[in-house]
Amino acid sequence: MSQFWSDIVHQLDPYVPGEQPQDHRYIKLNTNENPYPPSPKVKSAIQNYPFESLRRYPDPESSALRRALASYLELEPDQVFIGNGSDEVLAHSFQTFFEGRGPILFPDISYSFYPVYCSLYQIDSQPIALDAELCIDLADYRTANGGIIIPNPNAPTGIALGLETIRNLLENTTSVVIIDEAYVDFGAESAVSLVADYPNLLVIQTFSKSRSLAGLRLGYALGQAALIEGLNRVKNSFNSYPIDRLASTAAIACLKDEAYFHQCREQIMLTRDWLKIALTKLGFKVYPSSANFLFVRHASSSAAELYSELKRAGILVRYFKSPRIDNCLRISIGSDEECHALVDSLKLILNNA
Ligand SMILES: Cc1ncc(COP(=O)(O)O)c(C=O)c1O
Repeated sequence: MSQFWSDIVHQLDPYVPGEQPQDHRYIKLNTNENPYPPSPKVKSAIQNYPFESLRRYPDPESSALRRALASYLELEPDQVFIGNGSDEVLAHSFQTFFEGRGPILFPDISYSFYPVYCSLYQIDSQPIALDAELCIDLADYRTANGGIIIPNPNAPTGIALGLETIRNLLENTTSVVIIDEAYVDFGAESAVSLVADYPNLLVIQTFSKSRSLAGLRLGYALGQAALIEGLNRVKNSFNSYPIDRLASTAAIACLKDEAYFHQCREQIMLTRDWLKIALTKLGFKVYPSSANFLFVRHASSSAAELYSELKRAGILVRYFKSPRIDNCLRISIGSDEECHALVDSLKLILNNA
């Protein structure tokens, strides 16, 4: 608290990310990072980067990376916007498309940064309840609104919507619809193919999860040129150089290693299948996941206690003390070794319960 803060700052309830302990004591299954290192091509691109160029500012338009992404996704460069992590892209999108309109709609159980952007930009919101099985029913979104944002797959549940369901939503609204595809590469269908058909669709993706580059901070939005131009106006009123030279060099190299990308995501999906079976045998209800995490609820043990016991055993998972999900845990898919360690710890904890 300070007399020097503006009114809005007093009212903010900032986002709290999952713990990032600075020592390496923990098996980290709490922030949906990729257990595998970035592509070796990324390593050599960074190692071979001409060091002396760092004295210069980067390209404010991130033109080379935009061209690389456009060609990878079969879009035009003016349909691509790049930001410092998809969190920054989301923040700019809320300000560009949602500020000053009616209430925006998003699931009541969803990415907890959305309400934070709403309070930062003073945007009204109307959370829409997930059903009893924690699924989104897009029929519930056919109500007057100032915009819609849906994570697909949803976080923290991991449950995905099909592409036709999203097309159907777009057919029935003129509001801007943002599909946050942070986890789409782990088994869901991307809405990028719909960009050409819907001028109100913005798809947001990230290099943080399926491409193992959370530490570089790179996210991007895909949409028709008029939407992207709006984002550029906001970005250029905020920070001309959000993407540094090393990050864009690394990202371009990353896009060139398709084989490694598929190898890692397929391994993560295999581990997810194994972990789902192992957790089910231990008495967990495991929600269907198309993401690199599982959302689980134990039949008899409380999530808060399991979270604490796992932490004591050196394993971090995510526990949200929020209505309806305060007895659930979100567990990121780690390496096979990490997931075996998790299951072994859970067996001990549950046997002693
Ligand atoms: C649904 C969702 N969207 C966006 C993000 C932000 O990712 P980043 O800023 O690392 O690109 C996250 C991060 O966990 C997320 O869960």
